[in-house]
Amino acid sequence: MTQAGAHIIAVGNEKGGSGKSTTSLHLAVYLLHQGYRVGTVDVDSRQQTLTRYVKNRRTTAQTRGRDIPLPKHLYIPTAWGDSIAENQIAEREIFSRSLAGLRKDVDFIIIDTPGFDCNLARATLELADTLVTPLNDSMIDLDVLARVDDQSGEPIQTSPYSRNVQKARAERLQRTGSTIDWVLVRNRIAHLGSRNTSQVQQTIEKVAERLGCRVAEGIAERVIFRSLFTLGMTVFDPLEADILGSTPSMSHVNARQEYRSLVSALRLPVRLPVPRADNEAKAVERLRA
Ligand SMILES: Nc1ncnc2c1ncn2[C@@H]1O[C@H](COP(=O)(O)OP(=O)(O)OP(=O)(O)O)[C@@H](O)[C@H]1O
Ligand SMILES: [Mg+2]
Repeated sequence: MTQAGAHIIAVGNEKGGSGKSTTSLHLAVYLLHQGYRVGTVDVDSRQQTLTRYVKNRRTTAQTRGRDIPLPKHLYIPTAWGDSIAENQIAEREIFSRSLAGLRKDVDFIIIDTPGFDCNLARATLELADTLVTPLNDSMIDLDVLARVDDQSGEPIQTSPYSRNVQKARAERLQRTGSTIDWVLVRNRIAHLGSRNTSQVQQTIEKVAERLGCRVAEGIAERVIFRSLFTLGMTVFDPLEADILGSTPSMSHVNARQEYRSLVSALRLPVRLPVPRADNEAKAVERLRA
């Protein structure tokens, strides 16, 4: 664990709809099931998706009368006064006070940020130990990290978001001697290997090398994520029909394994080994029998 206790995982990308909130809750629930105390923080005051996701989870826990682990959740509002400078100071004060309190109570804090540049997204980068950046499986999403030469596929210029991250990394390195561990993860990957998919894979590796970050194995496009949101559930929750709201499928198992691979790739300070996929598959077969 880091300086003041909890390990802070920021989930960020200035591109909207890349899977930040979905990934945030999945990381939180994975760590809860491993027995860690987990805090979740929503700094996306406009959409509040993570806040609604956690609320849905609480409702499912109550209505099903089940012991579903919940994170300690905080929502940080945006200040709406006349002065931008004063608003920014007020927001940062609330943010750092809230985080300081939460840090004492939990082992991990996951902060979900909005899909655009803002004061609190930058404040989050300043605190992050790990930064996870989900990207939709498209060249357009890669453009948010770096401009890529059409002909050679080589990154030619880093983007404003990448520059924000690099600035926060440099400041942190100076302050603590260690940098933010930045991991890119492709999301909503098409099932069939397409030309786009392999082009994105090749380019993302080059962009990662240029930015000094790592690339985790990706998460495939799966319809199950839609129903999971309304229930506040994740692929890490028990594969039981009365909790999931549908019969468990191999899609759940495969998605669970993909998210587990992501957690492994993050190299978080966790104690327990990642369980094996074939045991999960057997568990589903038993449930269906
Ligand atoms: N692997 C996936 N397969 C299918 N749908 C997915 C997957 N991951 C996320 N989604 C869906 O994509 C949509 C966007 O996901 P999410 O809200 O997590 O993105 P976001 O980056 O937080 O968006 P925003 O920038 O608006 O905050 C949601 O409808 C979610 O259910
Ligand atoms: Mg979101």
